Amino acid sequence: MTHDDRPFQMTISLDVLQHLGIGLYSNIPAVLSELVANAWDADASRVRIDFDHQTPSIRIRDDGHGMSLHDINSKFLTVGYKRRLQHAETPDGRTVMGRKGIGKLAAFSIADTVDVHTSDGESVHAFRMNTRDIEEAARTGGNYFPEPIDCLVEESDRGTLIRLTDLRKRPSWAADHLRRRLARRFSVIGEKHGFDVSIDGDPITLDDRDYFNDMEFIWYFGDPADDWDFSRAPSGDGAGVLPNVVPILPPNGGPPVEHAIRGFIGTVRKPSQLDDVNNAVVLSARGRLIHEDMLPEYRQARVYTEYVVGEVIADFLDDDNDDIITSGRQRVQQDDARYVAVKTVVNQALHSIRDEWDRKRKQAGVQRALEYPSVKAWYERRGPDTQRTAKRLFVKIEALRLDEDERKYELYRASILAFEKLALKDMLSALDHVETVGDFDLLARLMTGVDEIEATRYRDIVEGRLKVIQALRNLVPNALERALQEHLFNHLWLLHPSWERAATVPRMEETVGAEFEKIDAGLSEEERRGRIDIRFQTVPGKHVIVELKRYDARVNAADLVKQLQKYRRALQKCLRDKYQGEPRDVECVAVLGAAPTPQDDPEGNRRILDAIGARYVTYDELVQQAEASYDDYLKARTHASDLDDLLTALAHDFGIDGKP
Ligand SMILES: Nc1ncnc2c1ncn2[C@@H]1O[C@H](COP(=O)(O)OP(=O)(O)OP(=O)(O)O)[C@@H](O)[C@H]1O
Ligand SMILES: [Mg+2]
Repeated sequence: MTHDDRPFQMTISLDVLQHLGIGLYSNIPAVLSELVANAWDADASRVRIDFDHQTPSIRIRDDGHGMSLHDINSKFLTVGYKRRLQHAETPDGRTVMGRKGIGKLAAFSIADTVDVHTSDGESVHAFRMNTRDIEEAARTGGNYFPEPIDCLVEESDRGTLIRLTDLRKRPSWAADHLRRRLARRFSVIGEKHGFDVSIDGDPITLDDRDYFNDMEFIWYFGDPADDWDFSRAPSGDGAGVLPNVVPILPPNGGPPVEHAIRGFIGTVRKPSQLDDVNNAVVLSARGRLIHEDMLPEYRQARVYTEYVVGEVIADFLDDDNDDIITSGRQRVQQDDARYVAVKTVVNQALHSIRDEWDRKRKQAGVQRALEYPSVKAWYERRGPDTQRTAKRLFVKIEALRLDEDERKYELYRASILAFEKLALKDMLSALDHVETVGDFDLLARLMTGVDEIEATRYRDIVEGRLKVIQALRNLVPNALERALQEHLFNHLWLLHPSWERAATVPRMEETVGAEFEKIDAGLSEEERRGRIDIRFQTVPGKHVIVELKRYDARVNAADLVKQLQKYRRALQKCLRDKYQGEPRDVECVAVLGAAPTPQDDPEGNRRILDAIGARYVTYDELVQQAEASYDDYLKARTHASDLDDLLTALAHDFGIDGKP
């Protein structure tokens, strides 16, 4: 092979490749940020990252100054090329990010094949590199000759295209995850810096660091730096200024040299507004992340740090002297005196913020709560003890940041009711000391308090029941049949508002149940098929036998009377023989799909049933009657109490439909 056939040459040891290439990074955002940094250094104004999920492959195209053949061999293909020895700034005056001449090797940690196409405006060049060939070359002498390929970049279209194929992992991560991570790794992306980076055609912006929208308080190191546009943090309250001077003792003695850092530390309202990427204090220099997160090194108050997000810019850490960045590239040398000094300042800042944050957060929560006039009115009428406790609760509710007003309303309502109940309890214990006539005033207030709370509680119950009834109303017969089968016997209030939770004595239920079974055994086939269930239950003052028939079963009134009578007698016998303390009154209710036959004599049917203390109700009537009786209850209570008024006002404040 002549020299001309092998225009490109790379000298690399296998060891270096293992350490710096394949083993350098595990995550794709970090790898891509190396290539983006190179585009920055090439004075590119635009970088496009495109994913081809089919192949799969990744393309990174920049419009920078590209590379001549000489550049390729002496810079790109030279591992360890130290560009800053030549210039600390790019031709266009940017501060250079590159330093070690190893960044491009990162590509090999996600791809086995890396194609480079480049144009410097005067010539075009393209070559392919492959990990297997590099490894082979390294084993047999160390010289590697990348294979020339057809160039996809036009001479007039200056810049560099890097294409990564034979990816080790399928790029299955979401593009917006990558977008957020890249946004977090560079502070120079965006119009302001003349550096536009886009993923699949969509530019990365500061908004992609989505925590800006959720920041509640912001502290600045020194003056607010204009590196970030804090107007994007609408709720962010400029909470304070942090010391920003980092004194560093020169290694050769002498007075400390002072360096300034810039940046901010912010807190969000609730930890769930930060993900693991954003819940960090990033350290950067020269517009680029050099240390992923300083938070873990501040070992205190875990709960507090879950609210923290921040960025510290310490350009002096990446000056042109000693290299502070480890070859792992994700972090800095922990014991470097310069880093230790920065860490001290940042830790002190985190520490001083902590108490202030706690105070401010509470104040803000209480303030937000008291912005509701009804809550404020209630609060102001309470004594200092209640107010103190209420404030703590407000802070908690407001910290929840519920998206639906309705949820928040419910929490406030429940809290206020709870406080009222507690107040009642206090009054109750005061009752122990009722002796004088004057104390009876207390008794009167107590009675009113009990009434008010019971009334609101009952209203909640009624509203809940109405919702159930309305749901039943919308069911088709089949579904209604199933719903009643499942719920009727445990919710007798469907049949009568005062039939609260059934209070049947368990042993009695067993005895009566056994008697009922004996009767069941004598049923005709048709009777058996027509019935869903028959049960007995005790409600205040009486016992109820409820029979639920199938929706489509047709029942004759006289037969129904005969049948119910048997069960009724069995129950009465049990009561007489074994449960004399129990009420004697027995009511039978048959729930039917349609009125019993003969259908031309409903009056007569009702009469013969009534004679044995029984009645029937059809499925539809059951739902209608239940709805009507509860509706009436709500309408009758036009005005109940102060507490009622307060709760209505509360509903109004939250834009919830006022209660009837
Ligand atoms: N997209 C590009 N456009 C033009 N030149 C490039 C591009 N990418 C790399 N180069 C050249 O290749 C050299 C080596 O890149 P590499 O990323 O390995 O090292 P570096 O950027 O100098 O330092 P570091 O190891 O800190 O990244 C660069 O200094 C630059 O001259
Ligand atoms: Mg680089």
